[in-house]
Amino acid sequence: MKTEIFYFSGTGNSLWVAQKIRDKIQGAKLISIPNAIKQEEGIKGDTVGIVCPIYMYNIPHLVADFIGKIESAEYIFLVYAGAGELGGGVKDTFKLFASQSLKLSALINVPMPNNYTPYDITPEDQQKELFDNLEVRVEEIVQIVKNRRNFADSSNTSFFRATIYPGILYRLGYNRINIMDQEFIVDKKCTGCGICKSVCPVNNISIEKDKPVWHKNCQQCYACLQWCPEEAIEYGNKTQGIERYHNPYITVKDIIQSSAE
Ligand SMILES: Cc1cc2nc3c(=O)[nH]c(=O)nc-3n(C[C@H](O)[C@H](O)[C@H](O)COP(=O)(O)O)c2cc1C
Ligand code: SF4
Ligand code: SF4
Repeated sequence: MKTEIFYFSGTGNSLWVAQKIRDKIQGAKLISIPNAIKQEEGIKGDTVGIVCPIYMYNIPHLVADFIGKIESAEYIFLVYAGAGELGGGVKDTFKLFASQSLKLSALINVPMPNNYTPYDITPEDQQKELFDNLEVRVEEIVQIVKNRRNFADSSNTSFFRATIYPGILYRLGYNRINIMDQEFIVDKKCTGCGICKSVCPVNNISIEKDKPVWHKNCQQCYACLQWCPEEAIEYGNKTQGIERYHNPYITVKDIIQSSAE
């Protein structure tokens, strides 16, 4: 059984989860989606896994585009390494695969710390609890995948949250994710180091006059804001004074490599 695990990760959670799954499946290969999507040929796989965050109860746009490149696979599994709330994302993700004439056999929810700074960052004691639970969860995933089981996790979201609030806002927001970078601002702490540009998975940032400029092709992965060593990037007036987050077991170099052309 050849296993390829494709991952998309802004702040390292999904990459860390993907690495852990890879380590437990003999011969499994890890491939970054920002890189894979640039390849001309379509994907023809045996076991194909996808590990990614969930944004606004929906699949990241880049991952949806990547799924369009899958031509065939014997068994497909998808792991949402989000903050645990999938809302309507479970149903919508199965639908997305079906619309491409693909069968998603397993959809698995792995709660990780929240990186969505304008809302709430997961406190450190809760982060530790999530990390401590991961080994057991990864073992469950590996058993599902090795036995090629059908599986659909629960969305872990109340009906009200999934459909009314923030469900409606999320549906509206999801369709304008690409232009939400117009809210990013940079303050005078910026040194012009270019890290924000290098971690961006879609080349959406250029450095002009030693400052980042965003180009309205955003995924809202928050890599630029979270990895800036000076904490010089803010999202409008919603992130000032709020602690930054990136996965402590993943380095900025790992993310730059995942995003490299
Ligand atoms: C714009 C945005 C929207 C998000 N929406 C959700 C969501 O609907 N449900 C959820 O569980 N987590 C949500 N998150 C949290 C991320 O999915 C979560 O922190 C994930 O682990 C980040 O993965 P990464 O470190 O691989 O980038 C959101 C994060 C961002 C930046
Ligand atoms: S990473 Fe931060 S300090 Fe470096 S160029 Fe970007 S905004 Fe400026
Ligand atoms: S501009 Fe920032 S938030 Fe948008 S895709 Fe690039 S790194 Fe992610």
